[in-house]
Amino acid sequence: MLILGHSTSAIAPPASLQPVGLPQQARDEAGLQAVGKGPRGAISLRKVSVTFARGRHEYAVRDVSLDVAPGEFVALVGPSGCGKTTLLNVIGGMLQPSSGSASIDGQLVREPTPACNVVFQQHSLFAWMTVLDNVAFGPRALGFVAPEEIARRFLKLVGLDDFADAWPATLSGGMQQRVAIARALATQPGVLLMDEPFGALDAQTRSIMQEEVLRLRVGLQPTVIFVTHDIDEALLLADRIVVMSVNPGTLKAVIDVNAQLDVPGRRLQDQAFIGLRQQLLGLIREESLKVFNQ
Ligand SMILES: Nc1ncnc2c1ncn2[C@@H]1O[C@H](COP(=O)(O)OP(=O)(O)OP(=O)(O)O)[C@@H](O)[C@H]1O
Ligand SMILES: [Mg+2]
Repeated sequence: MLILGHSTSAIAPPASLQPVGLPQQARDEAGLQAVGKGPRGAISLRKVSVTFARGRHEYAVRDVSLDVAPGEFVALVGPSGCGKTTLLNVIGGMLQPSSGSASIDGQLVREPTPACNVVFQQHSLFAWMTVLDNVAFGPRALGFVAPEEIARRFLKLVGLDDFADAWPATLSGGMQQRVAIARALATQPGVLLMDEPFGALDAQTRSIMQEEVLRLRVGLQPTVIFVTHDIDEALLLADRIVVMSVNPGTLKAVIDVNAQLDVPGRRLQDQAFIGLRQQLLGLIREESLKVFNQ
């Protein structure tokens, strides 16, 4: 496997990413109480393989090992069918691996738990609930005190407090995704899984949503695994980028973006950015050609 940007083990998070707790200011802003002690959201994948009983290729994902530090933002990229969603499903407990294991904060993942929430590409809101009830759903289900109050605070964080009583269908695609993010964050998961969350949005809205995610991230610091086909998006948002190879889905390269680009203020036109973009495009193209030639 190719490792770019840092010399330590491919599966370990870079040393620069020390575990961080939820900052008090962000907690206060969202009206949260402390949940447990110490940093949350450490993900550990150990030789995860997933096989499906049909198709030409036995393995959807094979022998994937990866450690993600609490608060780290990892983008997962690779050609269609390389197993990105499959891997998210394993981390989220929606799918049991055929072999190997996934754990969050040392707990083996056996089923979906409140430790981890997911934002999908689209159609993930409950159409029959108001925006407020969508966001309050998780806190209510988990028995949090004052779920509506929590929901209002998270809606405020994503700038949609004026739309609490609206129905999801009356919101734009970007607004719906902001509600979906608020809903996913409202139960204070240590881990947020995002599967092409902005894939259905127009370029302008997408760019605004990327800024939004960066802003929320600074405040709330969940661990994020973010799947995208957009290399610039991955380079703008991520601490590390994991490139997957296809058939079988394995880790092809791990790129420590922080070691090569400024953390705040990354710019598409910078030489370092352009260089990394070219590298990434080359790696993904190799894999796409493999699929094309099979
Ligand atoms: N439930 C299933 N049954 C059989 N095969 C499956 C199932 N889910 C996924 N696969 C296969 O596993 C492989 C990985 O699929 P996956 O959806 O994880 O890819 P992906 O990287 O998310 O692709 P995309 O970028 O198109 O979303 C594919 O070959 C797919 O056909
Ligand atoms: Mg997918």
